[in-house]
Amino acid sequence: MAQSSDLAAVVLQALSASTDSCIEDTWEFAISGGHDHAALVGALMSLQADAMTASEVRQASFWELTAEGKEVAAYGSPEYQVWKAVPAGDAGISKADLEAQLGAPLVKIGMGACMKVGWLKKGPQGALVKGSDDVRDTTQDKLRALEAAGGALESLSAEDAKELKRRKMVTQIMRKSFKVTRGAQYALERKKKTADLTREMLESGEWKTTSFKEYNFNTLGAPTGGGYLHPLLKVRAEFRNVLMQMGFEEMPTNRWVESSFWNFDALFQPQSHPARDAHDTFFVKDPAQAVSVPADYLKVVQEMHENGGSGSIGYRYKWKREEAMKNLLRTHTTAISSQMLYKLANQEGGFQPKRYFSIDRVFRNESMDATHLCEFHQVEGLVADRNLSLGDLIGTIKFFFERIGITQVRFKPAYNPYTEPSMEIFGYHPDLKRWTEIGNSGMFRPEMLRPMGLPEDVRVIAWGLSLERPTMIKYRISNIRELFGHKADLGRTKRAPICRFDI
Ligand SMILES: *[C@@H]1O[C@H](CO)[C@@H](O)[C@H](O)[C@H]1NC(C)=O
Ligand SMILES: *[C@@H]1O[C@H](CO)[C@@H](O)[C@H](O)[C@H]1NC(C)=O
Repeated sequence: MAQSSDLAAVVLQALSASTDSCIEDTWEFAISGGHDHAALVGALMSLQADAMTASEVRQASFWELTAEGKEVAAYGSPEYQVWKAVPAGDAGISKADLEAQLGAPLVKIGMGACMKVGWLKKGPQGALVKGSDDVRDTTQDKLRALEAAGGALESLSAEDAKELKRRKMVTQIMRKSFKVTRGAQYALERKKKTADLTREMLESGEWKTTSFKEYNFNTLGAPTGGGYLHPLLKVRAEFRNVLMQMGFEEMPTNRWVESSFWNFDALFQPQSHPARDAHDTFFVKDPAQAVSVPADYLKVVQEMHENGGSGSIGYRYKWKREEAMKNLLRTHTTAISSQMLYKLANQEGGFQPKRYFSIDRVFRNESMDATHLCEFHQVEGLVADRNLSLGDLIGTIKFFFERIGITQVRFKPAYNPYTEPSMEIFGYHPDLKRWTEIGNSGMFRPEMLRPMGLPEDVRVIAWGLSLERPTMIKYRISNIRELFGHKADLGRTKRAPICRFDI
């Protein structure tokens, strides 16, 4: 097949040679010249881009033979082939022998048609015998005539067209071709435009006569590779900015395995609490036990659970060390908060007010659905200072949520094992037009803070929310599995814009 540059030359040549400087129809031109029409049109479009040619679209409908139609044109219709295979005379042939000769599908179609028009009939013992000694395969004749006429629409009568279409032997095709004329920049020979200006051209002066390719300012640059932040990380970065601007320090949460002691006991969560069951928490098999926790502190925590103190009567049960030493995948980042508060109480120079935050992964044995996974990210903030009140908590939370674009916040009393009082946080969702739960909060209980050794007047206010929910809202993702895990679409991660919260 001719190269497209050759075809371009053919077109230019034809426009020069013809008396009226035009190619009337590229389809006919391609057939008469033995060219591929699609390739010819490709060459034409390239010439047109340089204004060397101009063209007008022409459309025409015609008949095209299907693969089956072509076969019939070559070998005859199924009924004709079946008729031909039946020997003359009264003995005929059995259907099984016919099938062995022609194949069952062909016999199935052909036999029915033959019976209908009387070409064949049933002989003795069910054999097939010829009903006529001379038949004419008009179907083949029509298809051959159509081929010879180049598929011209008028070469088939409406009745024949209907019949051949029904038998899936022809289809009507819309053909697009062009009338070609000379363009403004027409020349018999096509000079390829130069893309690069070289030193040699400057030295020789050749650049003065060279025709250069024009700049295409609309072309896209090559995509740059590189990494992309996951939407969760984009939202995390923004939350982190907000919290640091509010004077919060990030806690070192870079560990997933914790002892039950820091995850539960230090938070005054009783050992019989259902959350400490394997149905809710993933326990670690190996190593199953934590190495150590501060011995003195452990004693005080045990005392608080068993007998109470600081005005509390405790839970009054037998506290077990083995239970506290069980390793687990942390169920909340509060396991780190408890260690940070313990350090704060026991640091040199005594307690100093602090604001801490963390955004990291936690694990729960949840049944998974469109909004729940077994692992997710918790955003947690806490303030430890003297004489803090519920008002401080409400104010801090309102300020934080305002900074991430949730300006309407409401609180509802709730129960958490390690905070008292506790409040669920509701935000008004402008898209959903309703109030939805966006987090949880409270003041840590004295049963948690006193054993750590924090002074009497120190209160700790805290709140938490998941990172996934605001991310899904922000990036309009309705199924959490599209956000996180092996079903997440990397293309979506690449295309996700940076996260900005409108204030
Ligand atoms: C998670 O909980 C289910 C029951 O809710 C339990 O069958 C399964 O063993 C638990 N998985 C682990 C790893 O503890
Ligand atoms: C905390 O409150 C107590 C009692 O009202 C008061 O004596 C103390 O000075 C307060 N401390 C601070 C740091 O304001």
